[in-house]
Amino acid sequence: MQGIKVCLFDAFGTLFKVKLPVEKLDQLTEGQGERLLAIWRNKQLEYTWLRGLMGDYVSFDQVTEEALTYALREIKVEEPKVYDILMPVYRQPEAFSDVLPGLKALNQTGYQVAILSNGTKAMLEAGVTKTGISQLVSAVLSVEEVRTFKPNPKVYQMSADFFGLDKSAFLFFSSNRWDIAGAATFGFSTAWVNRNQLVPEVLGPTPTYTLSSLHELSSILY
Ligand code: 2OP
Repeated sequence: MQGIKVCLFDAFGTLFKVKLPVEKLDQLTEGQGERLLAIWRNKQLEYTWLRGLMGDYVSFDQVTEEALTYALREIKVEEPKVYDILMPVYRQPEAFSDVLPGLKALNQTGYQVAILSNGTKAMLEAGVTKTGISQLVSAVLSVEEVRTFKPNPKVYQMSADFFGLDKSAFLFFSSNRWDIAGAATFGFSTAWVNRNQLVPEVLGPTPTYTLSSLHELSSILY
């Protein structure tokens, strides 16, 4: 990690969970909870990419709710209670269990930790507070400021501008391989947190590091 000063983290899917146990959802969706979660997340990301390309920014909160409306249409379920169960996944996020020890280890080794996310400032602040990592994080950066979404280079540039540092000072962590492609193409070093054991993408530069979780951080901390 030579020259790295800031470890910059994607939020959703990387620090914060984007799923919840499906039992309750299954009851409301005729057993289609898992399918609903998958369609919802994919559609949410697709809408961010399309809105970014169209130059038609709306908040990630709105995108997330619209994607859920689409997902419910696709599984042919009309059940308003699903919004009450699912929207808190993003509005009151939960962290993965490796996050607290991982961020602590980075701080102790002398790295600044920051978050760069499509999420709104409100979602991110709620997550950081709820999961007890606020003392470990020196900046929470939301795309709200540039009114577009990842992987637009303007988003990654925001972090370089905020810290007043060259791109070479950043190591960007994400479980979203397309986000890693965006950050690496922009010029950041990258760490792909391959939480879901996915096969490597054929897109963008190869990640600098690949970890299966933040428990493996010690293998790259030097
Ligand atoms: C984020 O937090 C893309 O979910 C991702 O920016």
